[in-house]
Amino acid sequence: MAKTKRVGILTGGGDCGGLNAVIRAAVLRARHYDMEIYGIKGSIQGLMSRPLEAELLDIKKVSGIFRYGGTILGTVNKGNPFAYPMPNGEIVDRSPEVIDGYHQLGLEALIGIGGDGGLALLRRLAQQGNLNLVAVPKTIDNDLGVTENSIGFNTAVSVAAEALDRLTYTAISHSRVMILEVMGRDAGHIALSAGIAGGADVILIPEIPYDLDAVCDRLLSRALWGFNFSTLVVTEAVKTPSGELVKYTNSLGQTLYGGIGQYLGDQISSRTGMESRVTILGHTQRGSNPSPLDRILGAAFGVAAVDLVAEEKYDRMVAWVNREVVDVPIAEAIAQYRAVDLHGTLVRTAIGLGTYLGEIEQL
Ligand code: F6P
Repeated sequence: MAKTKRVGILTGGGDCGGLNAVIRAAVLRARHYDMEIYGIKGSIQGLMSRPLEAELLDIKKVSGIFRYGGTILGTVNKGNPFAYPMPNGEIVDRSPEVIDGYHQLGLEALIGIGGDGGLALLRRLAQQGNLNLVAVPKTIDNDLGVTENSIGFNTAVSVAAEALDRLTYTAISHSRVMILEVMGRDAGHIALSAGIAGGADVILIPEIPYDLDAVCDRLLSRALWGFNFSTLVVTEAVKTPSGELVKYTNSLGQTLYGGIGQYLGDQISSRTGMESRVTILGHTQRGSNPSPLDRILGAAFGVAAVDLVAEEKYDRMVAWVNREVVDVPIAEAIAQYRAVDLHGTLVRTAIGLGTYLGEIEQL
C-alpha cells in the first residue's frame, strides 16, 4: 500500500485577506489524494522551534475559515533563518534547524505561501536542504512577477476604495481635501486601483514623479470648476519633492513607512489655504475579511498547489494568468519585480478620467 504523503503548509511575511482560503482549499484537496496536511505555526519558526510547532489539519479545523482575515497558522515578516538575530544580539545561521525540522516532521513537501522576500528565503532553504517546495503568491503590494494577482491584493484594494468612498462624503460635507495614505511599499498598485475605484482626483504612486505645484493647481482648478472638495490617494513610499522617503523609527528600532500623507496635507494647506485631513489606512488593508476574489483565488491556488505536490512538480509557484491558474518556476516569479506598468491599461484609464497621476506624458 502506498505511504500517506505528509505535506507541510505555512504562511510567511505580512498577513492579508485570503490566506485562510488557501489553507482550507489545500486541506480539502488533499482528501483527493493519500495526503495529510500539516499546518506549520508562525511561518518557518514552527520548523525552527523544538518541540516543532505544527499540527495536522483536518476538515473540521479549516471549516469556514475562508471567510476570515489573517492566518490560522500565524506568520512573521522578520527573522531571516540564514542570519537570525538571537536575543543576545548574535547573528546565527539557523537554516540547518529549519531543514532538520522539515525532516523531523516527516514532510515530503512544503507549500509556502509568501511574497517575494519570503519565497526567496524558502527557495534557498529548499535548495540547501533538498526540500520539495511549492509556492503560493501572496502580497497586498501585488509586486510579485508573472502572477496578475497575488492573494490579498484585491482585499486591500476593496478596503482602500471603500475608505475613499467614506472620505468623499465627509470631504463634501466639510469642503475639504481628504488625503488617504495606503500601503504598497514601492509599488503603487493599491493606490492606482483603489484611486480609480474610489474616484480619487489625485493619485500619487512611487513609479511616477509628481510636481507639488501641479497637485495644488489641480485642487484649485476643481474649486473653480465648482467642486468644494477633492480626494487624493498616495502610496506610503512616495517621496517628498526633495526625494526623501517619509519614515519613522519606533521604540523597538523598527523603521516603518508613514507620513507622506501628512506631509502632503500640510503642503497643500499652506500653499492653497484649503483645509485638509489625512487618513493613514495602514493594517486595515491587511486585516479585513477577504474579498470574494481573494477567496476564489485562494481556493484555486490551494487546490492547484496540492495538485502540483501530487504530481511531484516542485520548485514551482502557482500563478493567476489570463483567468487561469498556471505554474511557473519560483525563481522566475521572484526575479521579476512587478511595478505599475506606465503604459498599462490602468494608467491610461486614470489619465483618461482626468486624474492627476504625476508628471507622466498624457497618453
Ligand atoms: O509588504 C506588505 C506590507 O503590508 C507593506 O505594504 C507595508 O509597508 C508593510 O507590509 C508593513 O509591514 P508591517 O506589518 O511590519 O508593519
